Amino acid sequence: MKKSTLLTCLAFFLFYQNCLSGVLNTPDSAYLFAYSTTKNSGSNGLHFAWSADRENWNAIGPEYRFLFCDYGRWGSEKRMVTPFMFQDANQLWRCVWSVNEKDGVFAHASSTDLVYWKPQTYPIVIKDNNCMMPEVSFNKASGLYTIDWLSTKGKDTLVYGVNTKDFQKYTETKLLSKTNRLNIREKAMISGNPEIGLIHQVPWSVIDGLIKTQQLATYNNQLNDESYLEDSIRFKGLKPVEATVSANVLQRKKISDLLMGVFFEDINYAADGGLYAELVQNRGFEYALSDKEGYDKAWNNTKAWSLNGSAGTFTIDSVSPIHSNNKHYALLTITGIGTGLSNEGFNGIAVAQGERYDFSAFVRNPDHKNKKLVVRLVDRGGEVIGETSINATTSEWKKAESVIIARKTASDTRLEIIPQATGSVALDMVSLFPQKTFKSRKNGLRADLAQTIADLHPRFVRFPGGCVAHGDGLANIYRWKNTIGPLQTRKPQRNLWGYHQSVGLGYFEYLRFCEDIGAEPLPVIAAGVPCQNSATGGAGQQGGVPMCEMDSYIQDILDLIEYCNGDIHSTWGKKRAEAGHPKPFNLKYIGIGNEDLITDIFEERFTKIFEAIREKHPEITVIGTVGPSSEGTDYVEGWEIATKLEVPMVDEHYYRSPGWFINNQDFYDKYDRAKPKVYLGEYASWGNTLYNALAEAIYLTSLERNGDVVRMASYAPLLAKENFTQWNPDLIYFNNTEVKPTVNYLVQQFYGQNSGDTYIDNSIQTSDNRDIVRKRIGASMVLDSKTDDLIVKLTNLLPVEVNTRVKLEGQNGIKPSATKTVLTGKPSDVKVTPVSDTISVSNHFNVTLPAYSFTIIRLNTIVSE
Ligand code: AHR
Repeated sequence: MKKSTLLTCLAFFLFYQNCLSGVLNTPDSAYLFAYSTTKNSGSNGLHFAWSADRENWNAIGPEYRFLFCDYGRWGSEKRMVTPFMFQDANQLWRCVWSVNEKDGVFAHASSTDLVYWKPQTYPIVIKDNNCMMPEVSFNKASGLYTIDWLSTKGKDTLVYGVNTKDFQKYTETKLLSKTNRLNIREKAMISGNPEIGLIHQVPWSVIDGLIKTQQLATYNNQLNDESYLEDSIRFKGLKPVEATVSANVLQRKKISDLLMGVFFEDINYAADGGLYAELVQNRGFEYALSDKEGYDKAWNNTKAWSLNGSAGTFTIDSVSPIHSNNKHYALLTITGIGTGLSNEGFNGIAVAQGERYDFSAFVRNPDHKNKKLVVRLVDRGGEVIGETSINATTSEWKKAESVIIARKTASDTRLEIIPQATGSVALDMVSLFPQKTFKSRKNGLRADLAQTIADLHPRFVRFPGGCVAHGDGLANIYRWKNTIGPLQTRKPQRNLWGYHQSVGLGYFEYLRFCEDIGAEPLPVIAAGVPCQNSATGGAGQQGGVPMCEMDSYIQDILDLIEYCNGDIHSTWGKKRAEAGHPKPFNLKYIGIGNEDLITDIFEERFTKIFEAIREKHPEITVIGTVGPSSEGTDYVEGWEIATKLEVPMVDEHYYRSPGWFINNQDFYDKYDRAKPKVYLGEYASWGNTLYNALAEAIYLTSLERNGDVVRMASYAPLLAKENFTQWNPDLIYFNNTEVKPTVNYLVQQFYGQNSGDTYIDNSIQTSDNRDIVRKRIGASMVLDSKTDDLIVKLTNLLPVEVNTRVKLEGQNGIKPSATKTVLTGKPSDVKVTPVSDTISVSNHFNVTLPAYSFTIIRLNTIVSE
């Protein structure tokens, strides 16, 4: 039984209850109390309670959140303080509230049914003051609403107000008299707690609708919370299940051959200290207190560097930098030989015996005295395990280069630079790079990590994020032009995940990596708005790129297309050629926006960008954005905009429980095929156990089945450095010497290495037809027309075996032996080794799916036309 069938049953149950309650004579109307609680500082959102007598209140929930404030940063900053909910002159429900005790904004949202709320707005109404206890009155004669509030500065509490007709445009803020205050908030006891809110008399049907919404959410949450931990009870006495998977290979449809890809974001030290092979941390001396918003005093221009020895000084200078984008450099002045600079790398520098490492640095002699600098790798015990030297020969910046060969393998060395003469030397862009990078590229990628990504066989690579793409405030939006060209001219910046981006891994390197692994590049560019969770610029997207700057912002995007695809005589194509790649990169896709808050500010900017690309580059598929979740206001509004504009594809994101993935396998079955296609740009179930991986595996069967509408999908995030993570779970963990793919990775890899371009319709019959059993057995069949292989994927999330009969009708020429690969173990396992063997097959064959397993069978065949 599918989830939709279950929902029908639930609807019937609710209907039946409704009939019963009708019989029980429900009131025509009742009182509705709208409030937010003060616990958790108001971050629980808007709640409702109802009462027949205005005295005794019944919480709808308890404390079910009907509306959640999206203002401010992730987590505790998103608060709804003193909501004031009312019905306007057109019977539309509106709610205004304070967002905190400091910002001069109030929030507004509207709803026709109190369940679905339109996008929130956060008008800035007062500077340098707060906006507390907003309330709204209506003047029938003028048709104007007045929003007044209290602003408290020092001891003074004053009343201010603005007028509006439509809650979109507001008049200037005026000082009002205290007599203007309505003060109509009331107290009610809800579940034993005194709460403050607004009371409205409403038809009973309104309350009934709210109760049903909450009940449906509770029911869905129960499904989403399903986990293997209750399987022994849920499946008590369950015997091995018999299943038949039937398919007629002539019943097929074309699906995307780009489904499996990767999402790369510089989160969890994925770039510097991760995929980017540079071994020196803070090579440009550009780390800044602001990277960590000042809370780590040691995170400054000297981070990872220290003076080794006492005969000298190490300071940071910025008087005559190599380039204005790279303002800081080290000034080392020594008075005794032996003292020098030391860099600790990213938690140590790992080197391997016999390997060659390119050392380079920009150096100059402010004292005009030539000097030799010894450069060496020193292990934890103080042993020098590799050494070279360079010369500082001029008082102008000059790049000096040499090679160090490691005499020993060591995971934790430091790099030392020791002048062999007293005096001063300036150093910048100090670099140590393994020669063995992925595909031996200069300024390349860490070979083992890049290979692990390549082994997923991704059909596309999305970069540079995620939230890194739209940034923390306007100034932090990722600008691709800052990331190309000679390294010393690139513009490093703060990473919104709380560290630094050297952008040594920049657009050129991303594009080259895509080409090296045969994946389509998929750059994602901010839609002219920063992340809605921005800390800077006030209310997140309130600070969209000013409209007067949008033309130049859009030009940057068009220039990116030229950089990728233009011929070498074009302005930007020439820069690509200068970087060593005269051939175009053949960009086909571009993402605009990253799970943005869908507001007017977003829509205006997105539309302008989309239309410009459509006009100038109709050959490029633009991918729009529909918010950070599989439901809710941004999802609905984002889809509406994309449909209206006929955006070819949209980027969906959702991180959910394994139960959600198991219970929502029909998510895309119901999608309108005439609407934009889907790029599932970020998804993951919450964990790295086998159970999580199997939940993703079963969901992926549904993505393949819907491969006509879901064109691309990428698990997120991709990489995470152990002990340096800001987000869990991730697909691949690593440290300086090891790469640790997760079980989830194995599932992605199996799908990536066994994808197809044609889906074969199939159906499953099981000996036990209960929904809880059926939804835990998943199958998909695809044909890979490049090899003529037919690939059968089978997932079993049950605690018992599933004896499966596979029946392939209409299929000639199946070769008698096929490869079968199985991933199985305990659901809590985080390490599982897949086992492959050869099995005998024909049109009908049997395969046993172990409890908690994922099985792939690759049949060699010539599929009849
Ligand atoms: O994947 C981690 C983050 O999740 C991404 O940066 C963001 O887009 C999403 O919220």
